[in-house]
Amino acid sequence: MATDTGRKLYNVGGVMLKQPFKIRRLGHFGYNVHNMDECVVFYRDLLGFKVSDENDFKNNPSPQVQEWLKDIENGKGYFMRYGADHHAFVLFNAKVMDAMAAGRAAASGKSTEGMTGAHGININQITWQTGALSEVIGAYHYFNEREVPIMRVGRDMPGSNWHVYCYDPDGHVNELYYGIEQEGWNGRSKPRDMYYRGFREEPGLPQMSEEDEVDEALEKGIDIHSGYRSKEMLSQTFEVGGVMIARPFKITKIGPVNLFVKNVGASIEMYTEDLGFTVTEEVEYKGRRVAFLRNGAEHHTLGLFPEELRGELGWPDVSTCMSFGIEVGSYQQLRDAVAFLKEHGVRFLDLPAELHPGIDYAAYALDPEGNGIMLYYYMEQLGWEGKPRPAELRRALGPAASTHRVEDWPEALEPLSDTYVDQVFQGPIG
Ligand SMILES: [Fe+2]
Repeated sequence: MATDTGRKLYNVGGVMLKQPFKIRRLGHFGYNVHNMDECVVFYRDLLGFKVSDENDFKNNPSPQVQEWLKDIENGKGYFMRYGADHHAFVLFNAKVMDAMAAGRAAASGKSTEGMTGAHGININQITWQTGALSEVIGAYHYFNEREVPIMRVGRDMPGSNWHVYCYDPDGHVNELYYGIEQEGWNGRSKPRDMYYRGFREEPGLPQMSEEDEVDEALEKGIDIHSGYRSKEMLSQTFEVGGVMIARPFKITKIGPVNLFVKNVGASIEMYTEDLGFTVTEEVEYKGRRVAFLRNGAEHHTLGLFPEELRGELGWPDVSTCMSFGIEVGSYQQLRDAVAFLKEHGVRFLDLPAELHPGIDYAAYALDPEGNGIMLYYYMEQLGWEGKPRPAELRRALGPAASTHRVEDWPEALEPLSDTYVDQVFQGPIG
């Protein structure tokens, strides 16, 4: 294991770090699914993600891709957002991703080991924001130096984010990016006519600013207001904090991502040494090690669970992702969200509260394929000393907190020192 002694350091904006980048937050996440129509209803209509762009992989002009996807009926994938980021969640067709992985493997003579869509991995990507384009390029070279397997580097459209993709020890795709497209007041995405600024290779530095790109598009006569705009599918019948929206809650943040992994120690090493995460807390549950890692002031954005726990927890055997976290705007919204989703037939699972340290009340929903979604409203924030709150100073939780029976949860809570501290959703909620 690498030690700090004698380790090469990198200048990141004038500060010497162990990696040539610093992850600032979880940017987006995605699942590859088989039942696309049902999943779109779940994520868009029930959870309230807005579709920012659709991408039909069958429209890819490459004859090779056309051949790989010739037996697939519907190649559509969806980019979704809850705020201004072009996407915070993506939903891609598992059959398409499997066929692309198999096609690429056959073309390169390599196995599909570690490729998205292969070997039961249905996580499309786990994506982290860095602070600069130069950090992304630094990460690309750093991964090469350390022989971290890389999937690709460049800039994808839709979304416009500059990125590098690498694999973790289980084959999960982690993406580091800079500069994701922001959607403004009119909710329109960048038009396809501007996609010519995409890159399929390492971009040379420096690059022109996005402001210049927009000016250039105008000079080319592109209608910059012709991008995709989604439509709310449900009636806006719920009052949330004085505004009428289509469900009794609003997503205000994404993460943490909880993974089932083969070897918790190996994953901790990769996420700390290669990606720069910090371990906040470890929990021993039934003699097994569970680790919670962060890259900001939040208690955790990543949970690493040994895969042996899946059976003991009674979790569906559909994904190496145990749960994708979705924060809602308040404790009341959390209780209302669970009731709303149950009314729409969504299934929930119970999880002992000790397995979400730093979060007091949480409920675990299953999407139509059995992928886990953790709903919560509060996460402990760490101060300058980087220490989590001692267990005895945390909110005392009764047995109901380890269940999704929200009717048995308290009506209202006493505040904590960091209640609503990370509730910084910007802009209108609907
Ligand atoms: Fe991405």
